[in-house]
Amino acid sequence: DVSKLEYLKVEVTPEKVGLITLNRPKALNALCEELIEELNMVTRDMDEDDDVGAMVITGSDRAFAAGADIKQMKDRPFSEVSGRNMFAPWAELSRRRKPTVAAVNGFALGGGCELAMMCDMIIAGETAQFGQPEILIGTIPGCGGTQRLVRSVGKSKAMMMCLTGERVGAQEMLTAGLVAKVMPAEETLPEALRLAGKMASLSRPIVAACKEAVNAAYETTLDQGVLFERRLFHATFATEDQKEGMSAFSEKRAPEWRHR
Ligand code: HXC
Repeated sequence: DVSKLEYLKVEVTPEKVGLITLNRPKALNALCEELIEELNMVTRDMDEDDDVGAMVITGSDRAFAAGADIKQMKDRPFSEVSGRNMFAPWAELSRRRKPTVAAVNGFALGGGCELAMMCDMIIAGETAQFGQPEILIGTIPGCGGTQRLVRSVGKSKAMMMCLTGERVGAQEMLTAGLVAKVMPAEETLPEALRLAGKMASLSRPIVAACKEAVNAAYETTLDQGVLFERRLFHATFATEDQKEGMSAFSEKRAPEWRHR
């Protein structure tokens, strides 16, 4: 029930985009456990909802998210942090089948940067700032920051960010490859919605296969990844939408996707 959400605002656009706005302004959208629970619930529902083809996660002008909630975790004993595997639920977002876009303005720090990196792509406003400042408060990234940063920006920049905690601007993150596109701040969300709307207008099973194939590049060797991609590519030929897409091209008309 969307009306009961405390930390998120949620809507579905006519273009079939599920828009999720992190809404904890007093704490710069610090990601407390309850917020992550809500996010998991909402994105799970959207993943199953035929009226949603892609999702956009955004924050406020000032902050996408300033990290995990420091006040909530600061006094937890090791036995609990480890015993309950603190932050394990965060990984759910990276298992969604539909495309996810992070629209980032302002701070994306610590868990906020990690959350953005769990999305399929990041669209950033010119004033966005990314960072892994955990080292400054006596800990290290705990939700993939050290791993995903290396994969997107390389070891040297990832080391610099994780070991100094210094923030890096949107333009620099674009050059480094963390960010897909940089926009004037007021156009960040519209552009993210446009891209998500485009993906939502395409064939669902084909988009899902494509996402799966790109994600395989993270996990496997090149040989295995190329083989995985080839198998999925062959599999698209078992769908009506591949026949429709290629027929439409040949007949010089717009495709009418069967599965969307
Ligand atoms: C809890 C937070 C918070 C956080 C900000 N706030 N970040 N509360 N957890 N991560 C709260 C502040 O306490 C303050 O509340 C209010 O939000 C506004 O923040 P200010 O600091 O007053 O704003 P400003 O001076 O503009 O500074 C913005 C900032 C700073 C640079 C983003 O807030 C900051 O450094 N935040 C922490 C960033 C960080 O270290 N993130 C990593 C967290 S660890 P009050 O009540 O005082 O007004 C992490 C681990 C991840 O993410 C592990 C796996 C998920």
